[in-house]
Amino acid sequence: MNYDYKNFASEYGTPLYIYDKSKIESNYKKLKSAFEDHYSHFSIHYAVKANPNPAVIKVLGDMGSGVDCSSPGELEHALRAGISPDKVLYTGNYESPDDLSRVIKNDIKINFDDLNSFKRMIKLGKPKRVSFRINPGIGKGSHEAVVTGGTDAKFGIPYEKAFEAYEFAKENGVEKFGIHMMTGSNNLEPFFFAEAVEKLLTIGGEIFNRLDIAPDYVDIGGGFGIPYHPEDTPLDVNLMAKLICEKFKAGVAKYKLGNPELLVEPGRYLVGNAGVLLASVTGLKESYRNFVGIDAGMNTLARPSLYGAIHQVEFPYKKNSETKVMSVCGQVCENADILAHNIHLPVDIEEGDLMILRDAGAYGFAMSSVYNGRPRPAEVLVDGESSKLIRRRELIEDLFNYYC
Ligand code: LLP
Repeated sequence: MNYDYKNFASEYGTPLYIYDKSKIESNYKKLKSAFEDHYSHFSIHYAVKANPNPAVIKVLGDMGSGVDCSSPGELEHALRAGISPDKVLYTGNYESPDDLSRVIKNDIKINFDDLNSFKRMIKLGKPKRVSFRINPGIGKGSHEAVVTGGTDAKFGIPYEKAFEAYEFAKENGVEKFGIHMMTGSNNLEPFFFAEAVEKLLTIGGEIFNRLDIAPDYVDIGGGFGIPYHPEDTPLDVNLMAKLICEKFKAGVAKYKLGNPELLVEPGRYLVGNAGVLLASVTGLKESYRNFVGIDAGMNTLARPSLYGAIHQVEFPYKKNSETKVMSVCGQVCENADILAHNIHLPVDIEEGDLMILRDAGAYGFAMSSVYNGRPRPAEVLVDGESSKLIRRRELIEDLFNYYC
């Protein structure tokens, strides 16, 4: 995706998140057909946390996607984007009574993070269907902060305790069931997914057989990675889906689980490579290192400072092949505010030049903040030749909305 960035900068200003509708659509189609080639009772529930802009949710909703939400705020974003409540999943953790009452009010499917979550829920009302998030004992992610399964994870029910949870729910009159896991984010390794699915089917299969339950659905979470670095090997989604479906179908047959729906909850895979962050150079400095300062920083895109994440940097209007080693930083008063460390950049960069950071569609704006009193950027959705503002730039005035 290459746009007329000068035009975007003059029309909408910088920093600016730009998302491409057709890229989101093609990501969705690719993932859907990869799974449906092997198992037709399948659906995608977009993880809203990756990019909650209602216009982005709507692109996926119009394709037939459901959603996964982790908070009442995300749930409200999905409902306002027009997603019907029967296509919404709720996967929170340490859910408060208020969180749970919103789930009941909207009558949506929930993956409980713990038996205690279910116990809190039944004080408010009995859910029609119960699914527990299981920690299958393994996890994998591109950074330790995004590993969400295994012995260090705060999520889910240890598999050794899962039987007790389902037994309790059944004894309390629940008749419909599902099972869930989410073991980590940004995985590029197809075999890991299949290994985790095999574990989940074994854990679930034994529980469901002992309790004489046929689950409505098996939700294997998201976590499908994208290559951020040119040397990353892209995830082979066709191979991954094939391996997952083989393990899934084998488990379903072995434990005679009927015809459960297979659900996935991808966030990054659907929107990550559909977004770029456009920024302007605000200052150049030759210090102990050479710095290019831009008007976007850890407040705009937190991933590099939080996880050491890589986002490819490009200067679309600099054709000079001569480069020097520079670091790209924002304007925040923290030394962690570096978006790219010691990379080769054109020697002739000047103040005012436009720069882009690639693959910023997931966990970009969603994790931005107003730290250091910098209002958050605008967001634009490109649809073919046209573009539209889908969130206006915040103003300094907006920072005063909440003070009493
Ligand atoms: N489902 C659940 C329950 C989740 O917790 C997550 C992500 C997803 C689905 C979607 O995962 P994905 O397909 O996007 O990997 N901020 C981090 C990523 C944190 C992911 C947390 N959970 C980052 O910028 O890399």
